Amino acid sequence: MKLSDRLRSAQQPRPLQAAPPATRPAGMPAAPAAAAGPAVEPSAVDAPTDPSPEPVQTPPPAVTPAPVSSALQTFKEQAREQLFQKMGGRLTDSSLQEAELQALVRKELAALVQSADISLKPDERRRLIDDLTDDVLGYGPLQKLLDDDDVTEVMVNGPDHVYVERAGRLTNSGVVFTSEEQLRRVIERIVSRVGRRIDESSPLVDARLEDGSRVNAVIPPLAVNGSSLTIRKFGKVPLMAADLVRRDSLTPEMVTLLDACVKARLNILVTGGTGTGKTTLLNVLSSFIPTDERIVTIEDAVELQLQQEHVVRLESRPPNIEGRGAITIRDLVRNSLRMRPDRIVVGEVRGAESLDMLQAMNTGHEGSLSTVHANTPRDAIARLETLVLMAGMDLPLRAIREQISSAVDLIVHLSRLRDGTRRVTHVTEVQGMEGDIITLQDAFVFDFSAGVDEHGKFLGRPRATGVRPGFTERFEDLGIHLPPGVFDHELKARNAW
Ligand SMILES: Nc1ncnc2c1ncn2[C@@H]1O[C@H](COP(=O)(O)OP(=O)(O)OP(=O)(O)O)[C@@H](O)[C@H]1O
Ligand SMILES: [Mg+2]
Repeated sequence: MKLSDRLRSAQQPRPLQAAPPATRPAGMPAAPAAAAGPAVEPSAVDAPTDPSPEPVQTPPPAVTPAPVSSALQTFKEQAREQLFQKMGGRLTDSSLQEAELQALVRKELAALVQSADISLKPDERRRLIDDLTDDVLGYGPLQKLLDDDDVTEVMVNGPDHVYVERAGRLTNSGVVFTSEEQLRRVIERIVSRVGRRIDESSPLVDARLEDGSRVNAVIPPLAVNGSSLTIRKFGKVPLMAADLVRRDSLTPEMVTLLDACVKARLNILVTGGTGTGKTTLLNVLSSFIPTDERIVTIEDAVELQLQQEHVVRLESRPPNIEGRGAITIRDLVRNSLRMRPDRIVVGEVRGAESLDMLQAMNTGHEGSLSTVHANTPRDAIARLETLVLMAGMDLPLRAIREQISSAVDLIVHLSRLRDGTRRVTHVTEVQGMEGDIITLQDAFVFDFSAGVDEHGKFLGRPRATGVRPGFTERFEDLGIHLPPGVFDHELKARNAW
């Protein structure tokens, strides 16, 4: 066979396992083959995450490992092609269990490796099959980033640019795809697993990975520089209140207050800019809902990881290929009212559903929680007004404001600060109306005046303003006891930090 001949001749100068560098599994080529284009995934995957002091092991000059890499690379590409041809639609068949698919692919790959007659040790053969399986079934070069717990977000801008967020900071990961085609295969694989599709007629899609990570993909022609993929990773274990306190996003006093507010069935909005941690905080707030209450969650792509048992999770649906069958967040909010919910938790209000949500909050579904994209608590109110107007009801502004002020009790605002940390910068009570204006009163605000340390890290913490929100007066009647000192401005200034 031609390929095996090439492989055999390529292996002659040196056994395969001796191919450098030591950081790759022995069977995997470390350097991209010159013919394979400017950037090949294996070496690039290693680049950002392997800070080894000796990244390059220069091979002895007499030995020329490149042909081995080249032959292996070629073999990998051909094996992938053959596998795609052989398995066809079964590769994206969402009715197949993951384990079945894995077994099937490994079997086919084993046969392909066998027939190629490459002389590999058993563990090299296994690693080659692992690598190919990753490529075909997993997320190819992204797998490593997805497996890295320090990475919280992966952003692919075309095959050559993959950025990651680590500890709140964005950097180029150095990872690249071998081609746009390889990137497209990864995208198709992700979206087909959740029963969605991506093609020219529907070039944008929201999906999620099995671990709950949220995925957005956009392909050309909408994405001009090659397909774009954004993966918001959520830890296997969701961040809980204690984690947010540990990360200085919340103070223990704020947790105590928020816990009491959720139990007292206040309607709470979490606000903030993109990626500031709204969904994470919404999840934390939801965790304070007593277990005997019936919760309905409504999201575009499920992200919330509620720990309670009595939860109905609803997900909106995009239109089908004929442009029909879409189920919007608004449809789901309306439907949820007929599901006897004790609590409605909406992942994000960003359209006409805001009117239904406000009405629900005002008419017996207190204790509802949601998030709104906004830059400040005041801005959140303005945004809600706009969203309600989008519902198309010809309501006067004053009526909208009255709806908002009587529906929303509390706004918890998040910001991602320059140092990469995500902090709650405001806990703000919506007090009511004064004339035509909705009055807001901060109970906690972030202390920016403390400045930054020598590493640029903010030294401030959220501090109580000393003003006790009016709604806390109802807490005692409800049997909810706030410990003394939660709003004690002086106490915080002196002791706590
Ligand atoms: N307090 C926090 N401290 C550190 N990391 C956090 C914190 N909150 C959230 N994160 C991480 O930040 C990322 C963004 O969080 P999240 O999805 O909750 O933000 P978001 O505001 O809902 O984003 P979007 O606007 O895209 O919906 C996630 O990877 C999450 O794990
Ligand atoms: Mg979110």
